Amino acid sequence: MITTGICRAHTNIALIKYWGKRSEALFLPMNSSLSLTLDAFYTDTKVSLDDRLTDDVFYLNGRLQGAKETAKISRFLDLFRRTAASSTRARIDSYNHVPTAAGLASSASAFAALAGAANEAFGLRLDKQTLSTYARRGSGSATRSLYGGFVEWHKGQDEQSGSSYAIPVDDADWDIGMIIIAVNTGKKAISSREGMKRTVDTSPFYPAWVTTAETDLQQMKQAIAERDFTRLGEITESNGMKMHGTMLGAVPPFSYWEPDSIRAIQKITQIRCNGTPCYVTMDAGPNVKVLCRYSDSERIKEELLTEFSSQQIIVSRPGPGIKVLSEA
Ligand code: DP6
Repeated sequence: MITTGICRAHTNIALIKYWGKRSEALFLPMNSSLSLTLDAFYTDTKVSLDDRLTDDVFYLNGRLQGAKETAKISRFLDLFRRTAASSTRARIDSYNHVPTAAGLASSASAFAALAGAANEAFGLRLDKQTLSTYARRGSGSATRSLYGGFVEWHKGQDEQSGSSYAIPVDDADWDIGMIIIAVNTGKKAISSREGMKRTVDTSPFYPAWVTTAETDLQQMKQAIAERDFTRLGEITESNGMKMHGTMLGAVPPFSYWEPDSIRAIQKITQIRCNGTPCYVTMDAGPNVKVLCRYSDSERIKEELLTEFSSQQIIVSRPGPGIKVLSEA
């Protein structure tokens, strides 16, 4: 017998970053974070439980994946199998939808879509908040992709896995946009998992990150409630820069920035000085994300075209939360 579940999840970009775990096994973060879900990037995943299978089989964008990738997915699905008291193996078909040539893969949309599809396939009917704690165990940032718009991920208490979940803050149904400047879409040398661990373990700046991230979060929630775009952008930029600062203090030091990242940041600063509000943030990679008013996005894109190709610039509106799909 085959039972299936299909789910779509959009990726999210943190405006208050998640950087550092207090429990690696449970993916419990040191600080709460806040993100914007994006419309332009999403993952569709189908989980087909098949009692004839002896192992999970994982296809990504139509290609059969190797043992290492599949083992990661299997460990994640074990969480659902345990809850469902099932030992049935699955075929997983996952498709990343990213605009041409951007190649930005996202573990956030991947694990959120997989969680949603597994929830359906195993017939668990977990509510979204609980499901966000499951998605977290695949990749921390996936927690936030359960919801659309601005989303907060509560760090939770102690070692209590159930206390660290996502909640929607605001549907971002106002004049909000994000521009992705794809500087380099190759595989990064240091994964976010490894980078955050090294920072927690060795950077003397790390404690200051944790305390100020909490203040930033409170102030950002207030800016969102007041629809104060300038304040929202200023906090976004400052929080992201602080996160990257912690890495320079790590032993050995490291940075995700590339010359083109700096070129993008300087260009955005110049556009802002000329009167258009726009603010940068970067994650564990060289690509630059720009928070702007959606109504300014085409104009900003035009200006960026002096430095980057049009394929490198992707404009997105805020996106929705996870959606269960039915077979086409
Ligand atoms: C810099 O969620 O990729 O993008 O939990 O180890 O899988 P793991 O890490 P991941 O880290 C994301 C880090 C970040 C900031 C953020 O998205 O909040």
